[in-house]
Amino acid sequence: MNKRMLSGIKPSGDLNIGGYSGSLSQFVANQHDYECFFFIPDLHAITVYQDPKELHQRSRDLAALYIAAGIDPNKATIFLQSQVSAHAELSWLLESQAHFGELSRMTQFKDKSEGKDTVSSALFTYPVLMAADILLYQATHVPVGDDQKQHVELTRDLAARFNNKYGKTFVIPEPVIQETGARIMGLDDPTNKMSKSNPNQNSYVLLLDDPAVIRKKFSRAVTDSDMCVRYDWDTKPEVSNLIEIYSVFSGESIPAIEKQYEGQGYGAFKKGLAEAVIAKLEPIQKTYHEIINSKDLDDILKDGAVRANEAAQVTLQAAKRAMGFVTF
Ligand code: AMP
Ligand code: TRP
Repeated sequence: MNKRMLSGIKPSGDLNIGGYSGSLSQFVANQHDYECFFFIPDLHAITVYQDPKELHQRSRDLAALYIAAGIDPNKATIFLQSQVSAHAELSWLLESQAHFGELSRMTQFKDKSEGKDTVSSALFTYPVLMAADILLYQATHVPVGDDQKQHVELTRDLAARFNNKYGKTFVIPEPVIQETGARIMGLDDPTNKMSKSNPNQNSYVLLLDDPAVIRKKFSRAVTDSDMCVRYDWDTKPEVSNLIEIYSVFSGESIPAIEKQYEGQGYGAFKKGLAEAVIAKLEPIQKTYHEIINSKDLDDILKDGAVRANEAAQVTLQAAKRAMGFVTF
């Protein structure tokens, strides 16, 4: 069986180093071992209100960042979800297979709806759209951060349920979650995932932050009073989080980092960490600025949409046929 990888990052905010770590860095690392589809799930972004201008800009920004981070558009198919109407169509077919109860149990839905007077029905059904994204391309492997594992499990359940009822139509996908950096926490609080929705800007580092801003944010990151660079989530969550970031961005192992800073305080460690992150991000930022306003970016996205459409239509037609819709 061909190994196919599919994944995407929502354009609902500026990309931070958590998303890079859990997601984008994995796309880049795996692109040569799979046939890859990396897309911008812009339809997912509107489960909560998006300012139209910002959605437009962020979608292009993310596509440019995919390329700047090293995804080769000649190898991987890079596209915008809203350019391929099969996603919305398969999502509707799959909604007929999803149970109200299982969608109610999705932790992301519970978190995002908690305490709100009203939430959109799209926020509730969004995991089914994610299942459609994955199943349309018969993806075998889906690299995601820890928080998306439950949605990939749901995708597996929906695919199996559909296959049982209507005959084998979908490949059952596997989540791919790396050991280090699948869950980067906020720099202000190691109990909260690093997220651009946090009102405290010092809690996250954005991919497009200036070096001076990155240095400042890491210098303010919370630590403990024991002054020892040691990896232990139970007793030293703040420092362990910083060590994971260091490891993802420098490519060094956790024991090597512990050893390098043995007997040194947090000052030197935080400086080294900031420089490791800057060294990785500077070339990405440079390429981003070169391509963000170029015609090349539009051409890559147009070409990607054509290729994605072709692949998606094959599965969509098979699913419709299996369910009994008249197809020609
Ligand atoms: P999002 O920006 O929420 O669409 O997330 C895009 C991808 O990045 C998903 O696969 C997430 O699981 C992953 N991700 C987001 N935030 C983090 C984080 N703090 N640590 C690790 N992975 C993350
Ligand atoms: N739901 C994912 C997130 O919030 C983004 C996403 C949408 C996705 N469709 C996908 C990720 C398909 C992997 C595969 O991060």
